[in-house]
Amino acid sequence: MKQFAPAKINLYLHVVGRRPDGFHDLDMLMVPISLGDTLEIDLIPQGIEFTCSDPTLSDAGDNLATKAARLFLAEFNLTTGVRIHLEKKVPVGAGLGGGSSDAAAVLLALRQLTKTGASDAKLAELAAQLGSDVPFFIYQRPAICRGRGEIIEPVKLKDSYRGLLVHPGFGVATPWAYKSYAQNPRPGESGRAFPDFTLRNDLEPPAFSKYPWLPAAKAWFQKQPEVLDALMSGSGSSVFALTGSEEAVEPLRSRFLAEFGSTLFATAFSIEAPEK
Ligand code: C5P
Repeated sequence: MKQFAPAKINLYLHVVGRRPDGFHDLDMLMVPISLGDTLEIDLIPQGIEFTCSDPTLSDAGDNLATKAARLFLAEFNLTTGVRIHLEKKVPVGAGLGGGSSDAAAVLLALRQLTKTGASDAKLAELAAQLGSDVPFFIYQRPAICRGRGEIIEPVKLKDSYRGLLVHPGFGVATPWAYKSYAQNPRPGESGRAFPDFTLRNDLEPPAFSKYPWLPAAKAWFQKQPEVLDALMSGSGSSVFALTGSEEAVEPLRSRFLAEFGSTLFATAFSIEAPEK
């Protein structure tokens, strides 16, 4: 079966404090966006098979998607095998939750394929064993995420949003970003207040001090007439700009590519309008 695995962006990410287990307590608003990977997941007689459109990921036998499959089979004492093909569209190491969403997609698909009547809460519990951001993708809805990121409170946004999402071609390692934050804890700059959130990312200061491309891209976006405001997503290295209209995105994208390099990743995205 086919399973869509949406990427996420963080509209705010506040670090609340450091925990005894070395993780950080967070308060963040995460939203699934229109960009995402697609997985083809099928049951086979035995074994875990994995292929990927990105050859650099194909040989990684131990990625989060195959870990998710193994965890699911072990939890429910299933002897079936699983074949996964991943069409990778979401940049890796980008603060977009691509790998986490792929893992959640495997859990969601296997629940359906094996007719295991696990609740969302049970799947989210398994998801939390795979990574802090994985439970969010079980629900695939805008949510305030607390704790490590695994305590999920779905929320209804008042507005829909659209914009441009860019990636510089290098990644930021999440463990490094949190470690660097812990050495010099300070809040990120508060941006524009929208009806549903005020933009802010506390991982911007560490990431911005190591990677000058990131504040340069954000500052450039903030000077463009179409842009309401811009922010880095997660631990980076993606930056997104919110625009007032959908028509504004394409001219902004063209100018961004002309300014920063035509081979960079730059894609329009939207955050689903809520059901009225
Ligand atoms: O849970 P995940 O594997 O995504 O976390 C990667 C790393 O990011 C952790 O090992 C930890 O160093 C850091 N992290 C953190 N606090 C969180 C989430 C992640 O310090 N809430």
